[in-house]
Amino acid sequence: MSKYWSDLVTQLQPYTPGEQPSMTNITKLNTNENPFGPSPLVLSAMASILNQDLRLYPPPGADGLKEAVAKYYNLNANQVFLGNGSDEVLAHVFNGLLKQSEPLLFPDISYSFYPVFCKLYDINYKKIPLTDDLSLDLENYKRPNGGIIFPNPNAPTGRVLPLKAIEQLLKRNQHSVVVVDEAYIDFGGQSAVALINQYDNLIVVQTMSKARSLAGMRIGYALGSAQLIEGLERVKNSFNSYPLGHLQIAAGIAAFEDEAYFDDTRKQVIASREWLSAQLKGLNFDVLPSAANFLFIRHEQNSADAIAAQLRNLGIIVRHFKQPRIEEFLRITVGTEAQNRQLINALENLLE
Ligand SMILES: Cc1ncc(COP(=O)(O)O)c(C=O)c1O
Repeated sequence: MSKYWSDLVTQLQPYTPGEQPSMTNITKLNTNENPFGPSPLVLSAMASILNQDLRLYPPPGADGLKEAVAKYYNLNANQVFLGNGSDEVLAHVFNGLLKQSEPLLFPDISYSFYPVFCKLYDINYKKIPLTDDLSLDLENYKRPNGGIIFPNPNAPTGRVLPLKAIEQLLKRNQHSVVVVDEAYIDFGGQSAVALINQYDNLIVVQTMSKARSLAGMRIGYALGSAQLIEGLERVKNSFNSYPLGHLQIAAGIAAFEDEAYFDDTRKQVIASREWLSAQLKGLNFDVLPSAANFLFIRHEQNSADAIAAQLRNLGIIVRHFKQPRIEEFLRITVGTEAQNRQLINALENLLE
């Protein structure tokens, strides 16, 4: 606290990201990173631009990457907005599109950055409770609103909504922007990108941090109608002209070009998720159905807090949200096969 802080800064409740421990001999299953490294093509593309040209500013619109994303999704380049991680993209979406007189709606159990952005940008919001089994029911969003945002698959539950339900929401909610945060969509579920050319109030936000193994590069994007994207460009160009550097642009383009690697690694993550889910059920965990690269689990007899602490003593870090409704759950990122086996062995011993 300082007397020099503005009232706004004094009142902020910043987001706390999952821990990035400095120890190397740790099994890190707490922040939904990909267990596989990026495509070798990404590494060579980055190496090839490590030269004197780094003295130059990058293209402000990160044009080559914008075109690669547009091509991949069969959109025009003016339907793509890029940012420094999808967190930054989301920040501009909140600031530029979701600050309206009616409240913004989002699930009570969801990505915990949403209420933080609302505080930062002074956005009126209302949390809509998930159902008792932690499902997202879009029927509960039939109320006046200045926008709707939810992750699909949802985080931290992993549950996914069918495209049909999202289309129905878009049909009956044409007066405000609907944002589908698809950070995990490549691990399961149908992307709402298919609806962009029919609904000009739809924004789909995606990231290269998860299925494309590039959390360390900070690349996210929004896809939508040219008018909505232009609104985001106006915000970005009033904030930071160059959110993506040369290395990020090169890495992003190469990752989109290596479709074989992307498909192979995400299929392996999906197969590991199913294996892990079956093993955990065998140890008496409730495992929510997940379309993401993590599982949300609860044990019949043992508290989440105790399990997380015991795993930590064994060098395995998982995520525990000490938050009403979900304090008995743990969120576990799908790791490498060896990490997943290590987790199951550790749990077998702990729960004996
Ligand atoms: C639902 C959701 N949206 C967005 C993000 C942000 O991802 P990034 O800023 O790495 O693109 C995350 C990160 O965990 C997430 O879980």
